[in-house]
Amino acid sequence: MYKPIFYEIGLKEFMKICVVGAGYVGLTTAAALAVFGHEVQCVDTDQVKIDDLLQGKIPIYEPGLENLIIEYSQKNRLYFSNKIVESIRDYSIILIAVGTPSQNDGSCNLSFMKQVVEMIVATINSYKIIITKSTVPPGTNEWIHRTFIEMGVKDDLFDIVSNPEFLREGRALWDIFHPNKLVFGTKTDRPLEVLKELYLNGSTPLIFTSLTGAELIKYASNFFLATKISFANEMARICDAFQVDYADIKKGLGTDPRIGPDFLNAGLGFGGSCLPKDLHSLKHSALTHNIETKLLDAVMEINDSQIELYLQRLNNVLPASEGKQITVWGVTFKPGTDDLRSSPAITLIQQSIQRGYTVHTFDPMVKLDSCDVTSHSDQYESVNNSDALIIATEWEQFIHCDWSEVQGRMKGSIVLDARNCLDGEMLRRQGLLYLGVGIR
Ligand code: UGA
Repeated sequence: MYKPIFYEIGLKEFMKICVVGAGYVGLTTAAALAVFGHEVQCVDTDQVKIDDLLQGKIPIYEPGLENLIIEYSQKNRLYFSNKIVESIRDYSIILIAVGTPSQNDGSCNLSFMKQVVEMIVATINSYKIIITKSTVPPGTNEWIHRTFIEMGVKDDLFDIVSNPEFLREGRALWDIFHPNKLVFGTKTDRPLEVLKELYLNGSTPLIFTSLTGAELIKYASNFFLATKISFANEMARICDAFQVDYADIKKGLGTDPRIGPDFLNAGLGFGGSCLPKDLHSLKHSALTHNIETKLLDAVMEINDSQIELYLQRLNNVLPASEGKQITVWGVTFKPGTDDLRSSPAITLIQQSIQRGYTVHTFDPMVKLDSCDVTSHSDQYESVNNSDALIIATEWEQFIHCDWSEVQGRMKGSIVLDARNCLDGEMLRRQGLLYLGVGIR
C-alpha cells in the first residue's frame, strides 16, 4: 500500500538515495546530493570503477569532483558499491543515470536502462520513487511505467519521474549547484513533495510537466544550443564573404536579451557525447512519427561541413600534396575536459592525415596514442618545423601563449584559428599569417 515516502525517510532531515550508474552524470549528481545532506549509495556493475572510487580515484576529469567525493565518502554520506540488486531493493529513491549511447541508425541504445528497470521490477517490495536522469527518447519513461504495470507491480507501489540533467562537462559542479531550472516530469502529484526537497533548490524555477514533456525539454535544449552554433557558423561564412569580422556581429547579437551572448562562437562546430548524439536521437524519434526535421537536418549538415571548410582554407595556402607538416593544438571536444568523444579536432586530424599532411599535436590534457600522429607533451616543442598551426580547441594557454616563441620555432608562418579565439592583429604584427573564417 502507498505510504508517503517522507514518513519513512524524514523529508526535513535527509533522504536515502541510490544512484545507479557511476558515469559523469551519476557521479556528479551523487556527490551533489551528498553535499545537499542526503545519504547516497552510488552503484555500478564495473567492479574496477567501484574499487577505484572506494580509494578516492574518479574515472573522469571533472574539476572539483574528486575532492568532493573523497570528502563526502569520509563523512559517510556517499558510498560506492557494485551490489546493484541489493541497493535497489533497500533504497526508496532510485536515480537512474546509466549510459544511453547512440546506435548506427541514430536511435539510443536503452539496454542498460532496461536492465535496471528489470532489476527494480524483480525486487520492488515497498514504495519507491524512480527518477530517470539519463537522456532518453520521448516515450521512454512512459514505457518504464507501462512495464511496471504489465509486470504486475501495483501502481501505488511506485512513481516514475523524468528529471533530465543540464550539466556541461568541465562545469558540471557549477551547473548542479547553480541550476537555472529543475525539470520534473511525473504522472501523479505523489512524488512532488519529495522532488521539491531533493536538490535544495532555493529560488530555482521548478518546471513540472508530463514524463514525455520532461524528456522533450532536454532534447529541445540541446537542439536549440546546437542551432545557435550552426547559426553562428553560417553567419561567420557570410561575414567572411563581406570581409566583416564575425566577432562584431556576435557582440551586436549578444546584447539583445532575446538572443543572449552564449553559444554564438563560430569555429570547427559542436562535438562531445551529447549534442551530436541527442540530435540524431531526436531526428530518429521524429521520423518514427513521420515528422520531417528540416531545421535539425540543416543544423547537423552545417556542423558536418565545418571541418572541410577549414581544411580548404589551409589547402589554399598550404596544398596537402606537398606533404607538409602541421601542428594541431587541442584534441578534446572543448576546453576543460579530457573527453575525445565526437571531437571535431580528432576528425580534423584524421582528415588532415588522409590528405597527406604530417600531423603533430599538443593538448593540455590528452596525449594521443596513435602511430599516425606525433603527440607532444610540450606545447612549444609541438610546433618545431611546422608549416602551419591549427587551433582546434580554445584552451586558455593557447590564447595567451608566447607567439614570438611559436614563430621562432615554426618553419612556416600560417596560424589557422579554427575557434575564432585569437587576437589576429597581434599575430599579424608578429609576422604570422593569421587565417580563419569570419575574421578580418
Ligand atoms: C551539453 C549542454 O551544454 C549541456 O547543457 C547538457 O547537459 C549536456 O550537453 C548533456 O546533454 O549532457 P557539453 O556536451 O558538456 O554540454 O558541452 P557544451 O559546452 O554544450 O559544448 C558542446 C560543443 O559545442 C563543444 O564541442 C563546443 O566546442 C561547441 N560550442 C559550444 C561551439 O562550437 N560554440 C559555442 O558557442 C559553444
